[in-house]
Amino acid sequence: MDSIAVRGNGPLHGDIPVSGAKNSAIKLMAASILTDQPLRLTNMPRLADTKFLGQLLRQFGVQVIESDGAAEAGVNGQQTLFHAAEITSTFAPYDLVRQMRASFNVLGPLLARTGHAKVSLPGGCTIGARPVDLHLDALSRLGAVIELEEGYVSAVAPKGLKGAEIEFPFVSVGATEHTLMAAVLAEGTTVLRRAAREPEIGDLVRCLTAMGAKIEGVDTDVLTITGVSSLSGADWAVIPDRIEMGSYACAAAMAGGEVRLTNARADLIQALTDKMVQAGVEVTPTDDGVVVKRDPAVRLRAVDVATEVYPGFATDLQAQFMTLMTTAEGESVIHENIFENRFMHAPELGRLGADISVHAGEARVRGVDGLKGAPVMATDLRASVSLVIAGLVAEGETTIGRVYHLDRGFERLEEKLGRCGAQIRRIHGPPVESPADEH
Ligand code: EPZ
Repeated sequence: MDSIAVRGNGPLHGDIPVSGAKNSAIKLMAASILTDQPLRLTNMPRLADTKFLGQLLRQFGVQVIESDGAAEAGVNGQQTLFHAAEITSTFAPYDLVRQMRASFNVLGPLLARTGHAKVSLPGGCTIGARPVDLHLDALSRLGAVIELEEGYVSAVAPKGLKGAEIEFPFVSVGATEHTLMAAVLAEGTTVLRRAAREPEIGDLVRCLTAMGAKIEGVDTDVLTITGVSSLSGADWAVIPDRIEMGSYACAAAMAGGEVRLTNARADLIQALTDKMVQAGVEVTPTDDGVVVKRDPAVRLRAVDVATEVYPGFATDLQAQFMTLMTTAEGESVIHENIFENRFMHAPELGRLGADISVHAGEARVRGVDGLKGAPVMATDLRASVSLVIAGLVAEGETTIGRVYHLDRGFERLEEKLGRCGAQIRRIHGPPVESPADEH
């Protein structure tokens, strides 16, 4: 199990290229099941999660070939070809699904393509219970016959899926994507109301459209899908990772200095940068990203935030923003409205000297003069990076354990921050056999 050691080392200066979005890539990868033609994804992040899902897809008979092509404007050269010429298995075992809960979303595409699938239920995870009832209700509405048995979902649709009107009771990213992927091959029209509008869903809609799907309402909360009998392959560039981008924006704001985030889109993190500007950070959008600047001699001001569905403030940036507030002047109130248990980083930040109290979905962060390095433990992916950000300004050394969480979603983090002047290094430990949760 590796750890990361960071030493508080003054301001950051330099460029950080933003990678393709993990939370888009893994849904696009699942979409490759829907066609017997090759789907080539460029701007692919190389992460533990994409590697893991690649292994699962191979188990279904999908050919997965990674390569490094030429970089183009805004797109790095990393690409992967997925070719599901024939689906040879439709079984996703517990041991695989529990390691990455988004792999549950192969159920819909497998069902749409073959008419049957057996996929383990993912179970809970450290940030909340995270049920999949909305996914299962929606697939049933499309005509799937679903049985739950011994922790597995068995779904069949021997005569194919049928379009339906589905209104989600509340917004769910996963349920929207999952139902969308099933509906594109269903017979007739499906209308999804109260659909999530996260940019990664727009990316999936656009990629499916490039594959021949008929979908109206991209980027809105009503998606109308007219089923087609088959999809073709496509070449698709994964959208930039707004959470990685927002995390480095917080890092630059915390450490001070001037960092240019490239291969990115400023509009994707508007809710975050609005709050950063209120706190006293200088944010300048550019043609391919954003420049974040702060005079480290000037203290930031406390600002309140509440997490919301897109375009609101992302729950996946809450931990990083909380870190930023630990040394701001005044008290910041942070409401977490998406997941019930997503403040596990607060006690770890406390170990570095932060003053944070948590009651139910609300955290109160009273800014302190400075943080002090200590050993801390990463509890989930975004919590891990919030601890790295804290380590950038903490006096002495901060060692973050369990960084396998971080490796799920941040590509070459030490290199990217190191090039901007951070003193950060990886300490290699024995391999992790089987991280038992989540995302
Ligand atoms: C996606 O999770 C992301 N994961 C999460 O990122 C992100 O935090 C979340 O969306 C919200 O933006 C991926 O894209 C792989 P939801 P997802 O369904 O789809 C409840 C990261 O760090 N719910 O929108 O699981 C659920 O428990 C991860 O990269 C049900 O009750 O999120 C939660 O409280 C963490 N029943 C809320 O809805 C359901 O059937 C929103 O979850 C589905 C969800």
